[in-house]
Amino acid sequence: MEIDVALVRAWAQRAGDMLLRSYFNQVSPERKLDRSLVTAADRAIEDWLRDQIVAYYPHHGIIGEERESVGLDREYVWVIDPIDGTSSFVSGLPMWAVSIGVLRHGQPVVGVIVLPVLGDCYWAVVGGQAFWNDTPIQVAPPQPPGPNDWIAIPSTFHRAYTIHYPGKVRVLGSVAADCCYVARGQAKAAIIGRAKVWDVAAGWVIVQAAGGVVCPLEGELPDWLTLLQMVRLPTAVVIGHPHQVSQVCAWVKRIVP
Ligand code: IPD
Ligand code: CA
Ligand code: CA
Repeated sequence: MEIDVALVRAWAQRAGDMLLRSYFNQVSPERKLDRSLVTAADRAIEDWLRDQIVAYYPHHGIIGEERESVGLDREYVWVIDPIDGTSSFVSGLPMWAVSIGVLRHGQPVVGVIVLPVLGDCYWAVVGGQAFWNDTPIQVAPPQPPGPNDWIAIPSTFHRAYTIHYPGKVRVLGSVAADCCYVARGQAKAAIIGRAKVWDVAAGWVIVQAAGGVVCPLEGELPDWLTLLQMVRLPTAVVIGHPHQVSQVCAWVKRIVP
């Protein structure tokens, strides 16, 4: 494959270093038209990542949260979220991430996520293992939940669903972080709301390389070429061990149509 994953890891680490040094706890948010938050940091880091990608891989396409898409019909498409968890970032909370995914012919092939405050890098290449820094990781095996087991859920989940999980539920504040903690087996599973493609492209490569699956809560997921056009997923999903996700789906009930 044409992608140098060590280079992608270095870019994500460098982006994280820049965010910590020049922006974290130093910027104020603005509201976008969809009312979500954005800062000068989100735009500056996306621009910097795009500059690296264009310099090294000039024929590749790019889709990212803060700028226009380029070349979505090309063999390779980069899917980038310069800060996943901007709301946590502007609140001074630690759980936010730089997320870089790469698709080839519409299939996710590389995922790199850096959590700068924690100094952690999670990464995987399709067909290989998933790693937390240099340690191979695996999703948790399916087991009846104990009182200290936990799953991650979206911060707005309670508005539309009830959940009867017997363990604990946590809101990490970053879908990318949800994927990392599922891949590492710390979170037994995660429910991800109707995410955008840049929230999940890298994370799903890592979860799948760690032995996990992505299971739609309702209906079916289209292929990635369709998802790139839709941008937002048509349904919430559950990620985790193949024998765990259906159990989590059974604990969830929709209360708002
Ligand atoms: C958000 C985070 C958050 C999730 C939102 C996403 P952003 O991404 O992943 O955890 O609940 O749906 O939009 O906007 O901070 O990149
Ligand atoms: Ca995001
Ligand atoms: Ca973002």
